[in-house]
Amino acid sequence: MSEPGDKPVKRRDFLGIAAFGTFLIASATACFGIVRLFLPKLSPELSRRFEIGEPQGFLLDEVKVPAGRSVYVFHDTNGFYAISAKCTHLGCIVSYGPQGFSCPCHGSRFASDGRVLSGSASKALEWYAISLAPNGQLVVDEGKTVKTGTFFNV
Ligand code: FES
Repeated sequence: MSEPGDKPVKRRDFLGIAAFGTFLIASATACFGIVRLFLPKLSPELSRRFEIGEPQGFLLDEVKVPAGRSVYVFHDTNGFYAISAKCTHLGCIVSYGPQGFSCPCHGSRFASDGRVLSGSASKALEWYAISLAPNGQLVVDEGKTVKTGTFFNV
């Protein structure tokens, strides 16, 4: 709105002001991005190695999914083993049941040891290494895969 006595803004001046404003916004955004590169992350990544409890805390034939993890941990007469819950097709989280694993995304099915039975996935589910920490806790290492059928015994 213009008041009586105000000078109208010329078209050329308006475009110049708009261009300068755009330049300032772009510069501020770029500076924010550069500064952010040097700030520590507020949410650190989860470690790929994590404790899942003491061996005696597992019942025979028990299956656990550690909180916040995409891995199934099994304890049976062969020992302990951990199988990734990430489908090898496109990474959806598989569910586990009496028939083995099934993927909700494209229908891949896996045997209870992770072998592919049907569907789009072409690779078996990964098995992760399990070890015993000095404090007596079982540790799953998602960064270290082992051959299917590798059991950990205490
Ligand atoms: S992501 Fe599991 S079948 Fe495609």
